[in-house]
Amino acid sequence: MTSKEVMFTPVNLGSIQLKNRLVMAPLTRMRAIDGEVPNPLTKTYYAQRASAGLIITEATQISPLGMGYPATPGIYSAPQTAAWKEIVEAVHAKGGSIVAQLWHVGRISHSSLHPEQGLPEAPSAIAASGQTYGADWQLHDYETPRAMSTEDIARLLKQFEFAAQNAKTAGFDGIEIHAANGYLLDQFLQDGTNQRTDQYGGSIENRIRLLDEVIETVSTVFPSDQIGVRLSPYGTFNDIEDSDPIALFTTLINKLNGYKLAYVHMIEPRSTSSGGNDQVYEDAPITSELFRAAYQGKFITAGGYDQAMGEQVLEEGLADAVAYGRLYISNPDLVERFKKNAPLSPYNRATFYGGNEAGYTDYPTL
Ligand SMILES: Cc1cc2nc3c(=O)[nH]c(=O)nc-3n(C[C@H](O)[C@H](O)[C@H](O)COP(=O)(O)O)c2cc1C
Repeated sequence: MTSKEVMFTPVNLGSIQLKNRLVMAPLTRMRAIDGEVPNPLTKTYYAQRASAGLIITEATQISPLGMGYPATPGIYSAPQTAAWKEIVEAVHAKGGSIVAQLWHVGRISHSSLHPEQGLPEAPSAIAASGQTYGADWQLHDYETPRAMSTEDIARLLKQFEFAAQNAKTAGFDGIEIHAANGYLLDQFLQDGTNQRTDQYGGSIENRIRLLDEVIETVSTVFPSDQIGVRLSPYGTFNDIEDSDPIALFTTLINKLNGYKLAYVHMIEPRSTSSGGNDQVYEDAPITSELFRAAYQGKFITAGGYDQAMGEQVLEEGLADAVAYGRLYISNPDLVERFKKNAPLSPYNRATFYGGNEAGYTDYPTL
């Protein structure tokens, strides 16, 4: 089989069946309507991309405090769940598979986005450096978050459970736990943001505890072979860092080997800030080379892939599927284009976040 053929062969990630190995990466588009309900256009947007082997939704917050940017959709209310159900049905009607990415942003937020809940919550009261968008779509300095108590953590686990139940009600093929890109679960994992002295901080075992408990909790709703986990070792987006990524992520992967998860999904740090710019960090470590061998289950890689690089990583056995982000924004029929070696449409960064049809549902197919 040539490397090109591998990309178009089916693969099962746990019990999620993919008709090919192209995955639509999770992409925040900030177009939710009132109540953080997915936009009616979102159904069209995902259905247009249903030829992907798997669609991972944009990150969806599990609670109001989990929200970090204006107009991102949630999965904690009945209207949100009803809208997701229509989206899932539209993707299934076109033969696609779709999982919901469950998200809590932690300190990467602003209190104007959740005025009733107040300050963002995080493992430790350490502000991220830089600025972020508030509810007014203007930039504000990051606030110093409130360090979560053990009661807050117990509540968080309930919220993950409830969000997973809603994802099940909506008919998703599974869920992906967002533990990447410097958001809440990543903030617990990495010691630059986690300086707790309780059972959730300090040693690597303690910093892994929250993600482990989240997986345990959502496993009561979905079988573990319908649950994926997204990680971003060596990523620097959102001011995240760890003093020993090899030790941290190797220990974590060994822990994840104990679950029969659908997959682990890793973002290559060469494109750590691709949500904000197109900079490529050429000399960043290659995490599929560092960590894939340690993981015994299925592995998705993402980050700065074109077709040739995707084929190569599959052929080398460093991944079972490749997720494409920016290329999927502007190429709804990316699978067909790759099959035909057809030219790709360029994306327009100005319409990534917010707005309506333009740059969302109006990119042409071949
Ligand atoms: C507009 C945009 C929004 C993104 N939103 C998310 C998100 O919601 N969740 C997530 O895990 N990653 C998100 N990412 C990261 C992508 O999933 C992907 O890892 C990154 O774009 C690198 O892949 P690419 O080089 O194929 O674009 C986003 C990236 C972009 C460009």
